[in-house]
Amino acid sequence: MVMTNFLQERKSVREYKDQDLSAKDLERVQNIVDRGNTNCKAAGISFNFFQNGQVVCDRLQGKAGYSGVMIKAPHYVSMTIAGREAKDQLKTGYTLEQINTDLVDLGLGTCWITLDHVDPQVKQEAFGTDGKEIDYIIALGYPRKKKLFEPEKHSARMEVREFVFENDFDTPASPDTLDQLGLFDVFSSVRYAPSHKNAQPWRFVLEGSQVKLYMVTGKEDNRSLVDCGLMMFYFQEMMKTLGTQKEWVIEDGFSMEGNYLYLGSYSL
Ligand SMILES: Cc1cc2nc3c(=O)[nH]c(=O)nc-3n(C[C@H](O)[C@H](O)[C@H](O)COP(=O)(O)O)c2cc1C
Repeated sequence: MVMTNFLQERKSVREYKDQDLSAKDLERVQNIVDRGNTNCKAAGISFNFFQNGQVVCDRLQGKAGYSGVMIKAPHYVSMTIAGREAKDQLKTGYTLEQINTDLVDLGLGTCWITLDHVDPQVKQEAFGTDGKEIDYIIALGYPRKKKLFEPEKHSARMEVREFVFENDFDTPASPDTLDQLGLFDVFSSVRYAPSHKNAQPWRFVLEGSQVKLYMVTGKEDNRSLVDCGLMMFYFQEMMKTLGTQKEWVIEDGFSMEGNYLYLGSYSL
């Protein structure tokens, strides 16, 4: 997968063909979920593939989805994580988006659905005994074909200068600095990452050879942490395309700087 193209072309799909995936595609999805379970077991994370999407959709109708309407998909993939600390929210974003990119790479349409506000009893009815711990699922299926003349839907994104800064939050990063560091394409692509309500709560500050990641705080910090975890995944993947295999170093205790929560740094 070429990550630059992937990010620029990706979008959430909320309307699916009224048909199940083929047997081959069901197997491919199951393999992705199984691989995710093997890789993430030590981190206390597990995924589940719900092939009968009807039951899930019926139980969550009016309680989750888009403006109160559940996103009707033939199938859903869920994620469960042992803890609810800030670091667990980052991990949720990072690992579920990893699975999501693999699903999109199969040619499937997908959309994150937030369930952190849904009554645990309802989640148990939708997903079974362990279901009450599920805060996020991914809807998946074959995307419904666009009708003739139906406009493309695109969610607006911030410009790079609105979320990448040099040394302090008053100085937007100049295109020259970004070019010199080889980061112009990286940020031009990661700006298309999805986020809850398209909030795009991530902010970057370039300091010498460090890229520091901050989060805008507000009323939905747990959800913003998930968004920032997902951004960490995309940033790291984009850096791999430049031949760099480094990883984010997450802070031990997160500290506030003004309205921003400092999450960690990436060494160039
Ligand atoms: C953590 C997370 C939670 C989301 N939750 C929902 C949701 O509950 N319902 C929904 O319709 N879309 C949800 N989305 C999708 C976002 O609304 C969407 O990514 C954003 O508006 C940008 O649009 P795009 O993905 O089409 O580029 C979620 C996305 C993320 C990353």
